[in-house]
Amino acid sequence: MPHQILPREAYTSQTWFQREQETLFDGHWQLAGFDGDFSETGDYITLRAGLTPLCVVQGNDGELRAFKNLCRHRGTELLEGRGNAGKTLVCPYHRWTFGLDGQLRGIPDRAECFPDLDRKANNLHGAAIGRWKGMIFVNSDASADFTAWISPLNTAPFPHDINDPALEHSETFTYRIQCNWKVFYENAIDGYHLAYLHEKTLGGPKPGLNEWEQHGDHLIWYSTERDGIRNRIPMFVEQQAAGTGMKKIKGADDPGYGGVYMLYPLTMIVPSPWSLTISTLEPVDATTTILRSRTWSPKSWWSYKEPLDGTPGYDPETGLIESKNWTDHPLETGDFQTEDVWVCEKMQRSMASPHWSVAALAKGAGAEDPIRSFQSQVADDCATE
Ligand code: FES
Ligand SMILES: [Fe+2]
Repeated sequence: MPHQILPREAYTSQTWFQREQETLFDGHWQLAGFDGDFSETGDYITLRAGLTPLCVVQGNDGELRAFKNLCRHRGTELLEGRGNAGKTLVCPYHRWTFGLDGQLRGIPDRAECFPDLDRKANNLHGAAIGRWKGMIFVNSDASADFTAWISPLNTAPFPHDINDPALEHSETFTYRIQCNWKVFYENAIDGYHLAYLHEKTLGGPKPGLNEWEQHGDHLIWYSTERDGIRNRIPMFVEQQAAGTGMKKIKGADDPGYGGVYMLYPLTMIVPSPWSLTISTLEPVDATTTILRSRTWSPKSWWSYKEPLDGTPGYDPETGLIESKNWTDHPLETGDFQTEDVWVCEKMQRSMASPHWSVAALAKGAGAEDPIRSFQSQVADDCATE
């Protein structure tokens, strides 16, 4: 029987979280944004990889480049949020100015204050960038090999094209969840709970009919309820939508179309016949995680897109979706995401107790085996020696 590998501290302690920040998130690939986020010279996005601020900038030549978002003078964060930087990247502190290619261009009072400084030695520190299917990934390690990380997915079907003009995307949904990022991740790859926690929303696909397949660092889930053919959604959900007039994504009825893709460690891609949702996990601290999701669906009189203000727990003041704002019981919302958040927060609260333990994990590739393999990846990445 598979067993729990990670100790309770892995989900609760700030010391463990700090180690993850340094050895797991800093130096792993993560989703920064999408092709559609960039159109003009100077467009930029900022994000963090563990403790390291990063940015992606569109240059004069149209190329996207990733840098450490740290001014080379005294290291302050250079860019904020997202937007357009214009023709140069200017540090707000003492106005050192960098080109969109990261080269140091201007130093105020240079002759007087920095007579000996080698300008060429103080360009922005680079970061690695990789593009895949309309998504832009970055890694704080400038020498990281994107192909090595992503290529194991090349043997899996991925028929989605988020740049297809027939699709439109939703606003970004931002969930603030009171649990460790691994609690959420493990729930997402737990095929055993689908039939029970989600009985009303996903209709109960049994573990024997789920499949999780490992592709390098990544996992892909399929349902095989329909005559053993791999599918991306439980039949119950598909039947519920039948006859509603919702438009399907092109190719959605093709055999072997899509799965649920977990791109280790922080990106999740969840397709259905009517939509494609791409989410990132942003670990905030040991017991708090931000989840950001955007959904693409066919342009249509009625799309699969859920309205943001109709999402249980959404607060227009903060723009966040949080359990403290729920008005109905999660199991009465008809929303499987809300069910997941509910159970993840319950799990996190119980982990605070020294009496928390795991009897065993459910055996089977469609049950809880993937949790064990995820935990051993994390344990390897966080090993101290
Ligand atoms: S820290 Fe950026 S100009 Fe001084
Ligand atoms: Fe779930």
